Amino acid sequence: MPVMIVVGVQWGDEGKGKIVDFLTERAKLVVRFQGGNNAGHTVIVEGRKTALKLIPSGILRPATRCLLAAGVVVDPQALFAEFDALGEVGIEVTPQRFGIAGEVTLVLPYHRAIDAEREAQLAAKKIGTTGKGIGPAYEDSVSRYAVRAADLFNPSHLEALISRNVELKNKYLKAVLNSETQFDAKELFDELCALAGRLKPYLANVSLEVNEACARNEYVMFEGAQGSLLDINHGTYPYVTSSHTVAGFACVSAGFGPRLTNLVVGICKAYATRVGSGPFPTEDLTEEGARMREVGREFGTVTGRPRRCGWFDVMAVRRAARLNGIDTLVITKLDVLSGFSQVKLGVSYELDGTPLQDLPVCADDIERLKVKYEELPGWNEDITAVRSFGELPKAAQEVLRRIEDAVQCRIGGFSVGPDREQTIIMDERIRSFAKV
Ligand code: IMP
Repeated sequence: MPVMIVVGVQWGDEGKGKIVDFLTERAKLVVRFQGGNNAGHTVIVEGRKTALKLIPSGILRPATRCLLAAGVVVDPQALFAEFDALGEVGIEVTPQRFGIAGEVTLVLPYHRAIDAEREAQLAAKKIGTTGKGIGPAYEDSVSRYAVRAADLFNPSHLEALISRNVELKNKYLKAVLNSETQFDAKELFDELCALAGRLKPYLANVSLEVNEACARNEYVMFEGAQGSLLDINHGTYPYVTSSHTVAGFACVSAGFGPRLTNLVVGICKAYATRVGSGPFPTEDLTEEGARMREVGREFGTVTGRPRRCGWFDVMAVRRAARLNGIDTLVITKLDVLSGFSQVKLGVSYELDGTPLQDLPVCADDIERLKVKYEELPGWNEDITAVRSFGELPKAAQEVLRRIEDAVQCRIGGFSVGPDREQTIIMDERIRSFAKV
């Protein structure tokens, strides 16, 4: 079972980093395939907390090599800041342990400025981006204006690219966005030349490495960022991120054929959260939602924003399971639901009195959905020391069974806390990968 893709099946922050970290014991390669430093993983090893944004959580394993594939957008300064932060906790990011595709699009200061100005202009209609310049960087990629990592090593070409782009961005900022912010091409060029030397040893041929590892039957893990419902095509548009967050994009980004994939694992919380604006059908604005935020420590890793909280949305997760071809689901943060007298599952949607089979396409319609809930008995026991399905209180077992049944997707594991040993994997296919 050597190639596994792990994706979030809600609106991000499902706890993918922790699960990927748990599963990477055997992985030769861990590959990020989309997004940039808008993602944030907090992983805790032996009580030590590490926040990762661009670098895959596999970096915590000395024998695992981590890669950023072509479809990732990379802010070089943010990347080096992460190298330094990891260095401080004793993890050295060497070129043996980390590589980056020459094709990645760089996130540059003008992208961040455009992101911020646009959000300010959208005011009440803002997307609630992380402000990292991710959308504007992807725009440059598809409009073919991007500065890519490999461009850093051809100074005359880089100089021409930067000078054209800075001129265009300055005009756009001033004339369209009415902004005072302007950039200096020479300054940016010099800055990038200074960074180039540090980046060079990390350049990698990701497609070749991945395909060769597969040919040797080595374990390769693809780590998704954000969540399926934030996918640029399939998410709650326009309140989405700018990349494809679904499993199929791993092949496109890293340059390997779909037939090589053996297992697609979906990660979701036992409840639901969303950061930023956009429709959230099962959002709970009462004290129960506030309690999930409090107990689940639902504050963004990247922006620190409080996350909106609500109940497990069966329809949304079922959609995501289909979009990704999920083989098995891992349910995280089940422990957060301890002490709720009832656990609610949003099981069906109605729009203007008509039952729906799926999320509507338009965000306005999603906002107007009526959700029908099923209420299951809760449990009071602290379950953080549980290490098998059988040790869970009957009510918690029932919640997992009901989710499995309603989503129509096997539950392969669950977690009851942030430490590695608090993740319980039942699915043999995952266990064989993780050697647990
Ligand atoms: P952007 O990716 O910064 O452009 O933000 C677009 C939307 O995606 C906003 O609603 C963000 O809050 C959301 N988003 C981006 N990255 C993450 C993530 O890692 N977790 C959860 N939400 C995210």
